[in-house]
Amino acid sequence: MDPIRNPYAPGAGSRPPELAGRDDIRRDIEIRLQRLRLGRPAKSMMLVGLRGVGKTVLLDQMRRDAEAGGLQTVRIEAPENRSLPALLAPALRLALLHLSKQEAAKDYAIRGLKALAGFASKLKVTYRDIEVGLDYASEPGLADNGDLEGDLGTLLIQVGTAAKAAQTAVVLFIDELQYVEESQMAALISALHRCAQEQLPVTIVGAGFPQLRARMGEAKSYAERLFDFQEIGPLSPPDAREAIIRPAQNEGAEMQDQAVDLIITKTEGYPYFLQEWGKHTWDVAPSSPIRYEDVINASDEAVAALDESFFRVRFDRLTPTEKKYLRAMAELGPGPHRSGDIAEKLGRSVSSLGPTRAGLIAKGMIWSPTHGDTAFTVPLFDEFMKRIMPGEEWEDQ
Ligand SMILES: Nc1ncnc2c1ncn2[C@@H]1O[C@H](COP(=O)(O)OP(=O)(O)O)[C@@H](O)[C@H]1O
Ligand SMILES: [Mg+2]
Repeated sequence: MDPIRNPYAPGAGSRPPELAGRDDIRRDIEIRLQRLRLGRPAKSMMLVGLRGVGKTVLLDQMRRDAEAGGLQTVRIEAPENRSLPALLAPALRLALLHLSKQEAAKDYAIRGLKALAGFASKLKVTYRDIEVGLDYASEPGLADNGDLEGDLGTLLIQVGTAAKAAQTAVVLFIDELQYVEESQMAALISALHRCAQEQLPVTIVGAGFPQLRARMGEAKSYAERLFDFQEIGPLSPPDAREAIIRPAQNEGAEMQDQAVDLIITKTEGYPYFLQEWGKHTWDVAPSSPIRYEDVINASDEAVAALDESFFRVRFDRLTPTEKKYLRAMAELGPGPHRSGDIAEKLGRSVSSLGPTRAGLIAKGMIWSPTHGDTAFTVPLFDEFMKRIMPGEEWEDQ
């Protein structure tokens, strides 16, 4: 089939040709955000799940939906090693500048920009990576205590007041939230809690790894009163079918049922894998309808492409000890696994492996679903580990 017309889109954050199986959750968040705009009680949402399940593209779609519904949105990604205030400051500035263009909100938005000036100049002492243009001088006493929790609360209240005056809501869409440090997370939750108490229309919709739920709960015990944690996982077989068939049909191509079934089996419905299999199957298929044999012929390439693009991304940054730990986990199967079992596999004590495990958690490779359990953050990672470190020799490394 013509590779130029290949509709599939494997890649982190690549918008899929068909966003399958997410209509209900999109509708759900729209209702919540529109309620918020009206000052009605509404919890926001945190999308949690493994890598490659489609959190980022869903977050982006929710943002487009919100914009289409007249809300004001900002998109932020929390990379490792950046402070939250440094990410929030320019994002909130944008929101405030936008609100200041509206007559009804202008004065409140300008006050918000003054609050931002106080916020940024005082907190820069602690969070040196804050870089933001200041449009107004600060107002003494407004968000300039130099204490993140209090100042962020004051700043968000100003943003919410301006948003309310403009009859909109300001929604911050934040991806990779698991990288935000606990004290900064606590400050953010506390600030949003203050806004909720004052019924002001400002909130965040976030996405992150599954540990986000526990991390937010530890940061502030009342996090669950502000957010519902929505698990994003693999697509159900009918949704996975849609994700594969629709894009082909839109290009005028058909696919045999058996071929679709095989793709669903091979990918277990994980969105990233569906896109990769769809892409390679399309490229090897001589013509429509795409057949079962075409999927068979494409599978080696799909796996190889996944190894390079998806599994390997962070693998190269690991130390030999960390790789060995993951390899021992893989030997035990998909998981989750007890820390004791992993240690036994390595012939080590659980406590001596503590630093290795902590390092892998910090790098986002594994997480702890329940105390003493360890699981991969990437689906089918055990099979990758066995491919990249084959045989028994890994045990002697
Ligand atoms: N609902 C979906 N239907 C079909 N493909 C999807 C869906 N969600 C995500 N994808 C695809 O899966 C891949 C990973 O999506 P991404 O949002 O980056 O995942 P995550 O942020 O959870 O790691 C992308 O190639 C994207 O096009
Ligand atoms: Mg993502």
